[in-house]
Amino acid sequence: MKRDFLTLWDVTEDEIWALLERARALKKGFQEGADIRPLRGKILGLLFLKPSTRTRVSFEAGMYRLGGQCIFMTSKETQLARKEPLSDTARTLSRYIDALVVRTYGHQEVEELAKYASIPIINGLTDMYHPCQVLSDLLTIWEKKGSFDFPIAWVGDGNNMAHSWIVAAARMGLHLKVATPEGYEPHVSVLNRAKLEGKGRIELSHNPVEAVRGAEVINTDVWASMGQETEQEERRKAFAEFQVNADLLSYAPDSVIVMHCLPAHRGEEITHEVLEKFAEVIFHQAENRMWAQMALLEWLLVGNLPAVT
Ligand code: CP
Ligand code: NVA
Repeated sequence: MKRDFLTLWDVTEDEIWALLERARALKKGFQEGADIRPLRGKILGLLFLKPSTRTRVSFEAGMYRLGGQCIFMTSKETQLARKEPLSDTARTLSRYIDALVVRTYGHQEVEELAKYASIPIINGLTDMYHPCQVLSDLLTIWEKKGSFDFPIAWVGDGNNMAHSWIVAAARMGLHLKVATPEGYEPHVSVLNRAKLEGKGRIELSHNPVEAVRGAEVINTDVWASMGQETEQEERRKAFAEFQVNADLLSYAPDSVIVMHCLPAHRGEEITHEVLEKFAEVIFHQAENRMWAQMALLEWLLVGNLPAVT
């Protein structure tokens, strides 16, 4: 039966570990010049209703490296622009391609596509979740820190990235400290499911200093996500105390790393100085989108996933 990847709830903890292991093995294999093309003859579709640099290019590059090919589509160039239903689009595309990455607004849109498609649907970002980014971020933390055995801070908006971190923490049993301004907390449905079905320790506050105390990783993201452009000014005021800057870092351990999914708005959620100080981590994080997604594509398309030892 086909598997979808709409949120990190769609994979078990063991599967996440296996994907991370496979991503590391693929990275090493390619660095050593191995010929690894299990996706020869496979075609990945990408349907994007929002802009993207990393998600689009990392999926396309990963697919080509593994021997497959891609078809990129925007809503404007498909009949979605003329209101063809997602259910018909899903059933049609399933006859041509082997998997579909979707970037859109409402999360229910990827759920609708997944319901009607006979091929795997991969969430390339919705307003609610960005699971590919957090899967890749887990890989980066594992490579940089060697474990997940410490508090991880989220400072900023309770948005799609925060939601995916909450699911990751619940799935993997992580200690996540989330600090958002009042009124910008993570969605209650995400928190409730994490509480009911998850492991881990998820702490919410409105205090960024408290969140970064003892944290080995600080994550942040833009204050106004795609689709929230009209709220930019209001959010700039509400989030003023939540900037990741040198002062905030002074409350974290010296060994802390700062992560950002990018694109960043320097001078808003993160200062230029902090971003450049952690540029090696942040661009390693961007690179890891490709390796983690290559493992995901290989698993979803041809079922390769090593057992966790
Ligand atoms: N981090 C991320 O998803 O970047 P893009 O919007 O460039 O795809
Ligand atoms: N929260 C951001 C993430 C961008 C990768 C957005 O949705 O715009």
